[in-house]
Amino acid sequence: MITVEASSTLQQQEVELLVIGIPDHPENVKEWETVVEAFHPSLPEWIKSGDIKQEFNQLTKMPALTKRSFKRVYFVGIGKQDQLSDVQLRELFATVGKQLHADRIRSVAVWTAPFCNEELTCADIAHIASEGISMGSYEYEGFRTSSNEVDVPLELVRFITHANEQEVIAAGNIGMIHAHAVNEARTLVNVPPNLLTPTKMADYARELAKSYDFEIDVLGKAEMEELGMGAILAVNQGSVEEPQLIVLKYQATDQWEDVIGLVGKGVTYDTGGYSLKPREGMIGMKGDMGGAAAVLGAMCIIGESRPKKNVIAVIASTDNMISGTAFKPDDVITSLSGKTIEVLNTDAEGRLVLADAVTYAKQAGAEYLIDVATLTGGVIVALGNDKTGTLTNDQDFYKQFEKAAEETGEFIWQLPLTENDKKRIRKSPVADLNNSPGRDGHMIFGGGFVGEFAENTPWIHLDIAGTSDASSPHVLGPKGATGVMVRTLATFVERLAATDQE
Ligand code: BES
Ligand code: ZN
Ligand code: ZN
Repeated sequence: MITVEASSTLQQQEVELLVIGIPDHPENVKEWETVVEAFHPSLPEWIKSGDIKQEFNQLTKMPALTKRSFKRVYFVGIGKQDQLSDVQLRELFATVGKQLHADRIRSVAVWTAPFCNEELTCADIAHIASEGISMGSYEYEGFRTSSNEVDVPLELVRFITHANEQEVIAAGNIGMIHAHAVNEARTLVNVPPNLLTPTKMADYARELAKSYDFEIDVLGKAEMEELGMGAILAVNQGSVEEPQLIVLKYQATDQWEDVIGLVGKGVTYDTGGYSLKPREGMIGMKGDMGGAAAVLGAMCIIGESRPKKNVIAVIASTDNMISGTAFKPDDVITSLSGKTIEVLNTDAEGRLVLADAVTYAKQAGAEYLIDVATLTGGVIVALGNDKTGTLTNDQDFYKQFEKAAEETGEFIWQLPLTENDKKRIRKSPVADLNNSPGRDGHMIFGGGFVGEFAENTPWIHLDIAGTSDASSPHVLGPKGATGVMVRTLATFVERLAATDQE
């Protein structure tokens, strides 16, 4: 993780690079004169002429013009200082992070004053800037043997501030923890599916459990058979890889009560099964465990911040393959809950694995549920690639979650789940439910199916099929996995813990 420091002076920083924000009126920023002095007397003129940009998110790179304790400077345009929001600030520092990574910078100092306004304190800036820089500087190395680029990670971010240094460092560290967890989740998604099998995902969870003192239980095929987890087992039937139900428990109070369950879809590869995906549609399906990665990432943050809230994470992991033993359309299966399911489409496998995971979470004491999954292409049709689609059976519970998403800047949008939708999920001539009522509005059917297993437990469904993987670089990171919902899930748990204590 990147080290955070704080210092009250611009002098003698001994860092490779200094970040200087340029708002609409830099001359009004406290100590602007010192900055001009430290850099060059002509700085105000260069800003006036537009050679150094003031517009939001515009970056101007320059070397230190005389011998200084820093070698280079990024001037970064802020626009209107009094209108800068936390979401914009994160975006701006992700831009800085991307550039720092491209320039292979190891140490950086950020002068905080130009970013402060009525809404954003120095500590807020340290938190959000750390998050942005660390998320922005992420890159998945991959396996290119021809690459001769040496990995030069960013090691140090120092905030130059007159605020309480310990508070600034603490806030910066929270940002770094959040971003680190996001980056871990991104890597889990980016790792190719021949390497990230369900057993490997379980190994990763075991490491987490060791680091953060979580209780861990991993159920394999035999245990699933014993319990009667017919839904996840059906999906796994065509595979040579052992399925894994990964269960992490974080116990924060003496009694195992008031537990929130985070349930993730961990399909390590989705071929579609016998309802086979077309060849173009299959590419990228290594990311079908994005929900699991989001839950594991959130558990990293929870393990660090240790909120007073009991959490159970349940991840249902398998791949969805074809073979003589694979499940097929027309099969009828019996889930852990006892509900029977008519399989109409083997490519609607996510809702099947989640069904058993949700039931397991409930049986293990979860009184609130959130499931996270790359569940349907339908959510992309409905909302595009920058909005997570949601459903709920409890509007008050959902309102609280919305607040957490607002705080982290991760956009969510609720779709309706009506009695008519439920009727269609429950319509089958041979079973209690069917797994594919139709393609019209199928995000609702996918999530709604999972809701059948949540039953009356307050539940939120997050369909991240559009937001989990980016086909091109985006504001907070590069092409590939985004680590979406890691921060929101953890922030939600933290805020629930805080309201409980009020
Ligand atoms: N894993 C896919 C959903 C998906 C699509 C994730 C695109 C990421 C990007 C899921 O298992 C699936 O195949 N869903 C089907 C549902 C259909 C059969 C009702 C879909 O979206 O087409
Ligand atoms: Zn599928
Ligand atoms: Zn899938």
